Amino acid sequence: MTKVTTLGQFIIEKQADFPYAKGELSRLLRDIGIAAKIVNREVNKAGLVDILGDNGTTNVQGEGQKKLDVYADEQFISALRSGGECCVVASEEHDDCISIHSEISRNAKYIVCIDPLDGSSNIDVNVSVGTIFSIYRRTATEGAVKPDEILQKGICQVAAGYVIYGSSTMLVYTTGRGVNGFTLDPSIGEFCLSHPNMQIPRSGTIYSINEGNYIEFPQGVKNYIKYCQVEDRATMRPFTSRYIGSMVADVHRNLIKGGVFLYPTTSSHPNGKLRLMYECNPLAFIIEQAGGKASDGQRRILDIQPEGLHQRTPIFIGSTEMVEKVEEFIRTAE
Ligand code: AHG
Ligand code: MN
Ligand code: MN
Ligand code: MN
Repeated sequence: MTKVTTLGQFIIEKQADFPYAKGELSRLLRDIGIAAKIVNREVNKAGLVDILGDNGTTNVQGEGQKKLDVYADEQFISALRSGGECCVVASEEHDDCISIHSEISRNAKYIVCIDPLDGSSNIDVNVSVGTIFSIYRRTATEGAVKPDEILQKGICQVAAGYVIYGSSTMLVYTTGRGVNGFTLDPSIGEFCLSHPNMQIPRSGTIYSINEGNYIEFPQGVKNYIKYCQVEDRATMRPFTSRYIGSMVADVHRNLIKGGVFLYPTTSSHPNGKLRLMYECNPLAFIIEQAGGKASDGQRRILDIQPEGLHQRTPIFIGSTEMVEKVEEFIRTAE
């Protein structure tokens, strides 16, 4: 019989890698896993209950919130609040950080940045959506959490992960020692290790970009897209274009198959669209840990000093050789 390792068992086994760990990070990951199962349950029956559609509210990004955006946000924050290991949550759906004050979280060390529901535009049409999270350790040992403790560079993340609510539901995470993927077995209600030590191919044949915005792209990106479309046997071009419109799902596919995901600056989004703290940094950490690369065109994403919670950045992420090729096109078009 094949041995099944559940997420809970795996987290406990891995705690041995950190001899001084007291289990707090493990408990935090467990809390996120629990919230993910609750959100998964709602996503799966979304068509049957009154949870599709708009919530009638707008978030700080100026985006209309979907009911599931709000539901997922509430579930993750509630799990983090009752778990007691998190002192501050920064979420896409809130203007400011949320401080958690409770007896059990008095000495909590961890700060969580979260995109509770990624791919909102796909909710109503039964296409994969996700959750992205990033975990930092406080730099001070006590007192109120200061803004610079929250605005840490991506390189300081202690863990990051995502959940993809897809044809099957998966949770993928890293604590800086490789990347492991777990698939939810609905019959037992557990995430089970299905993708140990995930590695992204060094190169690939998939490029993922919203090509409808072509006219608004910087010249280097336009040139790269043309390069992808030119026939060349040696590099297996033309490449395949795949764009789901849920960053989690696009990055997950490229992690497994090899490829590059691009969201550059555009004339309508001069700083890019995607958010550094809860979309780009966590996925950059995971992709780097899987052997890939994430860049804003010039710099490593993880080296960017954040100046605001909702800061945006252009991003090019995926197979190392493909990201380097995009950087080369951007450099030479300047
Ligand atoms: P969110 O649903 O969390 O606001 O994120 C949406 C993001 C991301 O998931 C996706 O890659 C991107 O928006 C799609 O943007 P376009 O529709 O501009 O291509
Ligand atoms: Mn949104
Ligand atoms: Mn998102
Ligand atoms: Mn979102």
